[in-house]
Amino acid sequence: MRIYLVGAGVISRTHVAAALKLPESVEFRVADVSSRALEGFAEVYPDIPRFADTTAMLASEPPHDDDIVIIATPPFAHLEPTLAALQSGRHVLCEKPLAMTAEDADRMLAAADAAGRLLGCCSVRFRGLPHNETVKRVLASGVLGGLHHLTWVNKWARSRSGIEYQPGSSWFLDSSKSGGGIVMDWGPYDIATLTDLFAPTAIEIGAVAIARPETSADPSDVVFDVETAASAALVLDRGDQRLLVSYQRASAMHGEEVFRAELEGTRGSLRWTPFDSRADVVLRTDEGDGPVERVVQPEPRAPYEAFDYPIIHFADAVAGRPNLALLGCDAVANFHWVRAMYDVARDAQPRRAELSGAMSAAR
Ligand SMILES: NC(=O)c1ccc[n+]([C@@H]2O[C@H](COP(=O)([O-])OP(=O)(O)OC[C@H]3O[C@@H](n4cnc5c(N)ncnc54)[C@H](O)[C@@H]3O)[C@@H](O)[C@H]2O)c1
Repeated sequence: MRIYLVGAGVISRTHVAAALKLPESVEFRVADVSSRALEGFAEVYPDIPRFADTTAMLASEPPHDDDIVIIATPPFAHLEPTLAALQSGRHVLCEKPLAMTAEDADRMLAAADAAGRLLGCCSVRFRGLPHNETVKRVLASGVLGGLHHLTWVNKWARSRSGIEYQPGSSWFLDSSKSGGGIVMDWGPYDIATLTDLFAPTAIEIGAVAIARPETSADPSDVVFDVETAASAALVLDRGDQRLLVSYQRASAMHGEEVFRAELEGTRGSLRWTPFDSRADVVLRTDEGDGPVERVVQPEPRAPYEAFDYPIIHFADAVAGRPNLALLGCDAVANFHWVRAMYDVARDAQPRRAELSGAMSAAR
């Protein structure tokens, strides 16, 4: 299998390390517009052929049926290389957020369909982690009864991409390059994980508030116009069940740090840490004298970590193996949800995302 990396920055290197765990033997090539980024990449992976131009890399040899191009650039530079890679006859795995706008995401899907190639998104990074598989096992057992409320809160005091996290990549803070802040950065993971756990047929976005809490570490020498906190009222429509989700996501907040999922059912509740596989999954049920709490037996540890899963799932899809990849219209629906969060924050009109298609006004 050949993997072509567009972008030689931070995430590109983690994709190489992950792809080396695939059952296939893999050859790599990498392109970046920055010679400095290519030099830094070569210090870690000196044997991978480097290109200063994505088009030249894609044209350097005829495509194979299982070639994969990973788009590992900032969001403003996702569309053009994705279209070029699909037109070159290769499958594309694009970093999250998939695009800058819903229209760009639709163009990617049309190009994938026209080329007969797969389009996938890296927002599946947390799918397949042991704790998520444990949650799925408990849900399938029916022990919780009818589900009615989910608390989904992940808020850091200070972990802003471009400031406290990866300060060298200030593009995260500039909406003309990133498309937005915490919702663009982490929303794709939230929604890919929630859809994996609960398999809703549609998601309603009832209300959204976004904000940029002020801190003494706010930079003044770069553009900083993105939100770093978001709260929302969502409904996961599961056909016979409507699960209300109290959603919070922040990379800067003045309140306490909280990382918590708590699912309420008519016969029990389940508590876990949404993105941490080391933390317990805890079940509470009524046993006569009130709630009794027990830790659910976890799934065995997997040989993979979160950063491995995008290419693991996508390569499985390309090879025709069972997989948890987010492909084609599902990848685009995930991104439509992200953009719709901003639409609802702006105009206070609820939206409904049919997960097999585009966003529409709420019914
Ligand atoms: N850094 C992380 O921990 C992380 C985690 C998950 C996902 N991501 C996603 O990965 C993507 C890249 O993030 P990063 O952290 O690696 O950024 P980065 O700033 O470390 O690297 C981005 C690289 O893309 C290059 N680039 C920009 N435009 C280009 C173009 N047109 N053609 C070729 N190369 C181009 C830049 O020169 C730079 O080397 C983003 O979508 C981000 O959301 C990052």
